[in-house]
Amino acid sequence: MAETSAPARYTELTDLYSDRAKMTGPGIVGLDPRVIRKVISFSGGYPDATSLPIQDIIEATRVALERDGEWALQYAFGSGIPELVEQLRIKLERDQGIKAGVENILITNGGSQALGLIYEMFVNPGDVILSEAPYFLGAVHYARQNGAEVHEIGLDDEGLIVADLEAELKALRAAGKRAKFLYLVPNFQNPTGITYSLERRKQIIALAQEYGLPILEDDAYFDLRFDGEKVPTFYTLDGSGLVMYCGTFSKILSAGIRLGWVVAAPDVIAHLSGLKTDYGTGAFASAVAAEFAGSGTLLEHIQELKALYHARRDVMLAALEAEMPAGTSWTHPTGGFFIWVTLPAGVTSAEVTRLAQQRGVGVSDGTYFYTRGGGESNVRLSYSFNTADEIRTGVRILGDVIREVQAVHG
Ligand SMILES: Cc1ncc(COP(=O)(O)O)c(C=O)c1O
Repeated sequence: MAETSAPARYTELTDLYSDRAKMTGPGIVGLDPRVIRKVISFSGGYPDATSLPIQDIIEATRVALERDGEWALQYAFGSGIPELVEQLRIKLERDQGIKAGVENILITNGGSQALGLIYEMFVNPGDVILSEAPYFLGAVHYARQNGAEVHEIGLDDEGLIVADLEAELKALRAAGKRAKFLYLVPNFQNPTGITYSLERRKQIIALAQEYGLPILEDDAYFDLRFDGEKVPTFYTLDGSGLVMYCGTFSKILSAGIRLGWVVAAPDVIAHLSGLKTDYGTGAFASAVAAEFAGSGTLLEHIQELKALYHARRDVMLAALEAEMPAGTSWTHPTGGFFIWVTLPAGVTSAEVTRLAQQRGVGVSDGTYFYTRGGGESNVRLSYSFNTADEIRTGVRILGDVIREVQAVHG
């Protein structure tokens, strides 16, 4: 009998994928988020679990549904349900000093969607964007997804290095090119924890205005300041429509509620809204958040969070002081979640990350936060998720690991 091959039961679709899907690559499938509980996790930007306002959210949900349940459970086309847009307008003016109208605001499915939409709206494959470096992993991802050519500009402890930005802008102009935007996280930056000084912000705005450079200001950690005075946003310093200001409820309310926002010029907002493929950000989550913010609970909750993360930061800084071998240095954030550690000479982030993971401590390899190389002797630590005792234990293990790697190479 002639040999027959088994009928194909599975059709490979890979060849049909769009360039965008191929540039993006596969995502994570089937991961149980609880996995981070298996280690002392200094690696993610997870909000503290005990502080999640479960009872207040139950109450806000009840009130929102009883008051206007129909519209909380309906489609919500457009740029955001009016109740949440209004609460955000109040919050932005009170806390950030940003005056925004309805036409300036888009509510998104987390700050991540806000960023992703902006990359999608501005970047064609091969376009140049500028970014502080090291920079937020999500932004690394959106750049790859849209085929952006990212020109990275280094940071010192007051923000990105202005002379390097200016040199980059001059070189682009000489080549007849214009960067689509500059991405930066001005407060308690992810991954380094640094905050841009007022002087630095003004210098960057002056250059942006001279060169017509839009700025994507990702202010995910704005509310979580422990020390010092707040610094004016790029958005308020500009006032000429160049800045797109993004934020999120993830760190101050709940990451699971998936709500964020963009504040920008009306035409930008309208086009971003046009790119959204979800018929509007979830009305249910939005109604709950609006109730939470409107009742004053959000303000109280932010105060509690600041006290909590402040204490955690202090514990981690003290533990680093006690446990790190000579030659290790780290940043001293005045808010947010992150500390950026520079390892002693000869010790690589790859070895430290691998060995720490084996001993039950998750840290983020510094190389993840660059697209063009860098971070080989850095790790990012987050103090947001673990208890004080876990932080002390984790940092002690990390110190041991670094010393062991040093001993092998020494
Ligand atoms: C700098 C920065 N931007 C944006 C986000 C987006 O957060 P989300 O999508 O949860 O709102 C994060 C989250 O970790 C972040 O660290």
